[in-house]
Amino acid sequence: MNASPDALSTLVDTRRVLVTVGAGGVGKTTTAAALSVAAARRGKRVLCLTIDPAKRLAESLGIAEMTTEAVTVDNARFEAAGVAMKGSLTAMMLDTKHTFDELVVRYSSSKDKADKLLSNKLYQYVSTSLAGTQEYMAMEKLVAVKDDPRYDLVVLDTPPTANALDFLDAPERLIEALDSATMRWFVEAFQSSGKFSLNLIAKSAAAVLKGIGKITGGGFLEAMAEFIAELNDLFGGFKERASRVQQTLRGSDVAFVLVTSPAPPAIKEVLYFAERLEDARMPRGALVVNRFHVPPPFAERGVTEADAAAGIAERGLSLEEDAPARLVQAHGDAARLASLDAANVRALATTAGGMPTVRVAELETDVHDVALLARLSDVLMSGGV
Ligand SMILES: Nc1ncnc2c1ncn2[C@@H]1O[C@H](COP(=O)(O)OP(=O)(O)OP(=O)(O)O)[C@@H](O)[C@H]1O
Ligand SMILES: [Mg+2]
Repeated sequence: MNASPDALSTLVDTRRVLVTVGAGGVGKTTTAAALSVAAARRGKRVLCLTIDPAKRLAESLGIAEMTTEAVTVDNARFEAAGVAMKGSLTAMMLDTKHTFDELVVRYSSSKDKADKLLSNKLYQYVSTSLAGTQEYMAMEKLVAVKDDPRYDLVVLDTPPTANALDFLDAPERLIEALDSATMRWFVEAFQSSGKFSLNLIAKSAAAVLKGIGKITGGGFLEAMAEFIAELNDLFGGFKERASRVQQTLRGSDVAFVLVTSPAPPAIKEVLYFAERLEDARMPRGALVVNRFHVPPPFAERGVTEADAAAGIAERGLSLEEDAPARLVQAHGDAARLASLDAANVRALATTAGGMPTVRVAELETDVHDVALLARLSDVLMSGGV
């Protein structure tokens, strides 16, 4: 494996922005939190922008009640778990709608215009449901906080996307959706509604904008026309922002941390994503293979029922008669799982194009408290496993 043992610690020490990406459920949020803790332990003032952390983890950091405000975690929480913090950890939950609202306010030519747009029903739909909005707003927030002098490092968690590519394409997809031929057709159709029966337009619009069905009826057309006119006002702004976001992500002070499980579908997705990052000239920092199964003791030679029986007797345990056979079975399963993971990761290492690969073992429990996060941060900083 071509892992340099200090791949992640170098990234934590030298970059200003780390972005965790990967398939759904592989451990993006956990890795972002553990990297943040690692950096804070090393003296950095860290901002962790997180999405939907597990409730127990958020609670253990004291951020469960947090809305969209940044909350600095009390270092006493870490000290109580025997973890010394030289720096600080601030966490902020990403809120798509809130970020979109802030953008509208910033880019509207007047407060009146902003208020009008914010209260438009269609805006409320678009700002939360349009494809790519969540991904785009995560990036948007990153640009907004990246140069904040209160932080040395910003760690950005990313939303679960069905396909990791959604994330890279988000800015374009959002702009395309807002500026699409369909939308323009609709505006034109509306503006020249003399040529159409109003009914036809309403029907087409409803078909086009499936999912906003609730808003059909009396005020729909007016709301729609108003919305598009107002959003048009902002198009220049959004387009310019999207290219700035893309530019930021290409910076030499940014690194993507690709996270995967050892399962082939997740690996396939992360490799494809790695290629896309390269095409987009975005810096790939490291690959984390999370929840890796480590081999049980004596995996090489295997254990016999006699070994298991001896172990049971040595510990003075009184177990059921078939316990040795079941232990042998469990040991064999664990060894097979570990060797499967090892084979998958070996194959990954040869295709990962020289990206440092860090393996993180599956812990006995999910990562729900400060002590476990600190443990994971040690693993990540020491090159894995
Ligand atoms: N190394 C590990 N050992 C054991 N459990 C882990 C490990 N890493 C993550 N987990 C657990 O796996 C679950 C999913 O992790 P996490 O929420 O970080 O994934 P995610 O990629 O952010 O998911 P989503 O795509 O839904 O946002 C959590 O319960 C977490 O505690
Ligand atoms: Mg997550």
